[in-house]
Amino acid sequence: MSPASPAVNAFDLVIFGGTGDLARRKLLPALLHRFADAQIVAGTRITAIARDALDANAYRARLREDLHDVLGAGEAGRLDEFLQLIDYHRLDATQDAGWQEFAASLKQRNGNVRVFYLATAPDLFATICERLRAAGLSADDARVVIEKPVGRDLASARAINDAVGHSFAERNTFRIDHYLGKETVQNLIALRFGNALFEPVWRAEHIDHVQITVAETLGAGQRAAYYDKAGALRDMVQNHMLQLLCLVAMEPPASLDADALRDEKLKVLHALRRIDSSNAAQLTVRGQYRSGAAEGHVVPSYAEELGGPAHAETFVAIKAEVANWRWAGVPFYLRTGKRLPTRVSEIVVTFKPIPHSIFADTGSSIMPNKLVLRLQPGEGVTLWLMNKVPGPGGLRLREVPLDMSFADAFGVQRQPDAYERLLMDVVRGNPTLFMRRDEVEAAWRWIDPILAAWAASNDAPKPYTAGSWGPSASVALIERDGRTWHEDAG
Ligand code: BG6
Repeated sequence: MSPASPAVNAFDLVIFGGTGDLARRKLLPALLHRFADAQIVAGTRITAIARDALDANAYRARLREDLHDVLGAGEAGRLDEFLQLIDYHRLDATQDAGWQEFAASLKQRNGNVRVFYLATAPDLFATICERLRAAGLSADDARVVIEKPVGRDLASARAINDAVGHSFAERNTFRIDHYLGKETVQNLIALRFGNALFEPVWRAEHIDHVQITVAETLGAGQRAAYYDKAGALRDMVQNHMLQLLCLVAMEPPASLDADALRDEKLKVLHALRRIDSSNAAQLTVRGQYRSGAAEGHVVPSYAEELGGPAHAETFVAIKAEVANWRWAGVPFYLRTGKRLPTRVSEIVVTFKPIPHSIFADTGSSIMPNKLVLRLQPGEGVTLWLMNKVPGPGGLRLREVPLDMSFADAFGVQRQPDAYERLLMDVVRGNPTLFMRRDEVEAAWRWIDPILAAWAASNDAPKPYTAGSWGPSASVALIERDGRTWHEDAG
């Protein structure tokens, strides 16, 4: 066990949606890693809940297949030990049957921290929380974890928050945005507030603009039915992208205390300039992929994947602005989409050009400095600086990267998945990297007028070919301002 991962107390984790994609692809592998690292200790129990007619043995057998290559060779024994912590309970969250037995089995195990993870569709959150309360399971220090998106607009988010809040106190409600569990995202806080270098220039006087790109090569695929009700704005911008924007733009918090940090993020969300039908056409672009060549073969269009008329945008670009003293006039260009040419998430902070060049006669063009924070893949930080090209023959300058890769700098063999960190934070009761109710609602307050503007316009999302960087209107959005998308990302 690394000293950075002290063991957490034994806990009881109940995963609703235990046979679903999130549980099997993300939560259980993350828990297995934490177990293999001895962060999860004996006495812990992980109970999957679902409607499938399975018993615990059948569920474990399924899990064994899902998880067999999660750990390295030679660690198969650890998987066996992990599976002994796993239980399964067949329960339909919408029906009364089975709840009494389930509650009784949990109550026998008083003493452990109790965590309920709702890895289900959001329309079940209220029912499940209500039943947990009725069964006397939400009392004391029991925690509930809910996945984004919390709602599909401000009104539905409030309804969910009210319903969850009826059973669980805000301090015990953990709203997951898994981007906050990514190493580089936390490193943004370290970089900004652990170094004296950046803070003095972290403002409109010195920063020209900020770009945030989250590009995926995958399509909506199996999730197309959910995705068509959401679209990229709700699925990615309302949460992940706005959280990244907040961490870039917030004022220095007084401490790392959860509320100190979240208070500052909230102020950024409140300062976002409103985008509505008066300006959405200039400030936003929606796209939807058509068939094209991606990942080395021809992939179907989004509509084909969906198997019917497709509504949702699979690509969004937005020119946002944080209207306060620090950031007035600095555009934050946000861009996210599915079926783009490469999987990359990065934040690019471009500084202002130098005020006067003494190199005009050397024929060198002086590029503005750029700080690139790469979230994935190849997590790291790059600072682009102007340097002299070595050798005689005049003073020629060229832009060169000062590169720091996490893997090289820290000898990181495996980058832990965001869920590993976040799940352990829930057990420890540390809400710093989770979204507070008011943050989620403030984000929707900014998103809602954009959704309304799109709904009111007759325009459909603009088509783009799978494997391209989205509709040409996205390029136009930034080029109108005399800027370009950062070339590493495309
Ligand atoms: C999820 C979205 O929150 O984030 C998915 O619902 C998206 O649509 C995913 O694919 C991206 O996460 P990551 O960690 O792969 O960048």
